[in-house]
Amino acid sequence: TDLDTFIAGLPKAELHLHIEGSLEPELMFALAARNGVTIPFASVEEVRAAYDFSNLQDFLDIYYAGAQVLLTRQDFHDLAAAYFARVAADGVVHAEIMFDPQTHTDRGVAFAEVIEGLLSAMAVAEAEHGITSSLILSFLRHLSEDAAFATLAEAEPWLDRITAVGLDSSELGHPPEKFARVFAAAREKGLKITAHAGEEGPPDYVHQALDVLGVDRIDHGNRALEDPALIERLAREGMTLTVCPLSNHKLCVVDDLADHPIDAMLARGLKATINSDDPAYFGGYVADNYRAVATARGLDRAALARLARNSFTGSFLPEEAVAAHL
Ligand code: ADE
Ligand code: ZN
Repeated sequence: TDLDTFIAGLPKAELHLHIEGSLEPELMFALAARNGVTIPFASVEEVRAAYDFSNLQDFLDIYYAGAQVLLTRQDFHDLAAAYFARVAADGVVHAEIMFDPQTHTDRGVAFAEVIEGLLSAMAVAEAEHGITSSLILSFLRHLSEDAAFATLAEAEPWLDRITAVGLDSSELGHPPEKFARVFAAAREKGLKITAHAGEEGPPDYVHQALDVLGVDRIDHGNRALEDPALIERLAREGMTLTVCPLSNHKLCVVDDLADHPIDAMLARGLKATINSDDPAYFGGYVADNYRAVATARGLDRAALARLARNSFTGSFLPEEAVAAHL
């Protein structure tokens, strides 16, 4: 079989996907029209042309602007339904989806509209595509810890439908320790914990995610490679890293995909996985990310299969469900 067929045929879990980042320009225009929202672009081509980023903040500014077309439960349903339909073709059988409630509640959209729309699409995905999924509520780190606490309180009626909390948005200047108390509260409620760390931020932010937040996995983690003792620790603890190659390239975390450290991570014993992050903005879904590293770094099929296997052992699925996927 050719490489594309092999990759699509590998059952895989996606562990690092911002659902707002799966908003394709075509759907952005359709929702803008449906909701009477004005967007600062004349065409789908103009939107795509704007996706030329020099760093994380550059991207985030456009990502938050795009999310403004999302207003109703139906919008969130349509957004997630489009993601599931797309990744069914990529061999995704399980997805742990991050959503950023504050991006919406701060615009007056009710938390219930956001989560009920996502949950209804998740039910359809399981029925129609056999894809299981769960939700990760991500706090925006450029906002205060009090704002994160308020979001956790709003989520209270749905805590049995939320698997984990995460931490995303502008990393530099917003270290994990800023959110120590809210993550402790989330853990008390039985939620799993993940956090973006070491995407643009220094290795110390990865240390803080481990020691202060008590994370169950690390989103990105690239800059951990600058700290040999940290690499050793992550390997020893079997900590999963949710790596996003096309994102890393588009956000200039790596200058060239040919310099991507995915194989260095595996060689150092790190439990790396391959994910899409914000596929509508970074030019590819999860199978595109597998193909990108296979091509740019010459990963063989055994390495690709290892990465797919890591996506299940690094998931928040119960042990029996993980075993059923291996
Ligand atoms: N929000 C959406 N994508 C993100 C990323 N790659 N890093 C931080 N925050 C994000
Ligand atoms: Zn991310």
